Amino acid sequence: MARSAILNVMVRAAEKAARRINRDFGEVENLQVSRKGPGDFVTIADRRAEETIRDELEWARPGWSFLMEESGEIEGRDTTRRWIIDPIDGTTNFLHGIPHFAISIAAEEQGRITAGIILNPVTGDLFTAERGSGAFYNDRRMRVAQRKKLVDCVAATGVPHLGRGDHGAYLHDISRVMREVAGVRRFGSAALDLAYLAAGRFDVFFEDGLAPWDVAAGILMVREAGGFVSDRDGRQEMFSTGSIVAGNEDVHGQLLAILKEARKRHHLTAPGTAGDEGSQS
Ligand code: IPD
Ligand code: CA
Repeated sequence: MARSAILNVMVRAAEKAARRINRDFGEVENLQVSRKGPGDFVTIADRRAEETIRDELEWARPGWSFLMEESGEIEGRDTTRRWIIDPIDGTTNFLHGIPHFAISIAAEEQGRITAGIILNPVTGDLFTAERGSGAFYNDRRMRVAQRKKLVDCVAATGVPHLGRGDHGAYLHDISRVMREVAGVRRFGSAALDLAYLAAGRFDVFFEDGLAPWDVAAGILMVREAGGFVSDRDGRQEMFSTGSIVAGNEDVHGQLLAILKEARKRHHLTAPGTAGDEGSQS
């Protein structure tokens, strides 16, 4: 399949970084059993991958701006176009020698995501999407799953990390969702969660506290595969709120309703409120 010029540029940058990441992943597997552990090494690998991607993209499209997980925002001559990059999404998996992580790159032009790629360096799984041209898995067209009821669905999610997010609120979300769906998965890479949803593997996805680089490419991918994406209030404020709910037209709406109920319940039972039977006075 012939890819567009911009997708070619993005894939080339990701493949170059992937070769490096794979070498570093081999080293992480060795360090896993060492006394020191692979912590610092992983931070270096992350930075190195980001640098490789940035250099490649800057060379191919000079002057574009950047938003990157490691280096933050870098303004180029062209502030209407930027690359949104996560060099290793699924860092905890990478750190633990679990081969489920990905490079995620999105192109944003005039505030709209126009192209996105997600590449798992270990498996070589490549997911691509371009605005108006569809989404592809290793060059095969992707389409979201067509299940109509949550009870038949596999839901992917992300659990808030230690010291991040509202764990109490999340427990209400997950306890409500798991009663409605066929199964729940937490694989540890939001980018791959969205790519899998676009590929029809997961039916729905929800998570809070995400950054633009975790999801920019994946949001486009889900949409181009015929799916719906919003924040948990049903608005298009995913970047500013960090909240994402995705699925096909039917189950996306059903999941939004469930999450709304869960949040209501959480507010009713939060310490110090009327519904908090267990709270101390
Ligand atoms: C994380 C992954 C994970 C999600 C976290 C993200 P990182 O990104 O996407 O699935 O649950 O919220 O921060 O830190 O591995 O690049
Ligand atoms: Ca990430």
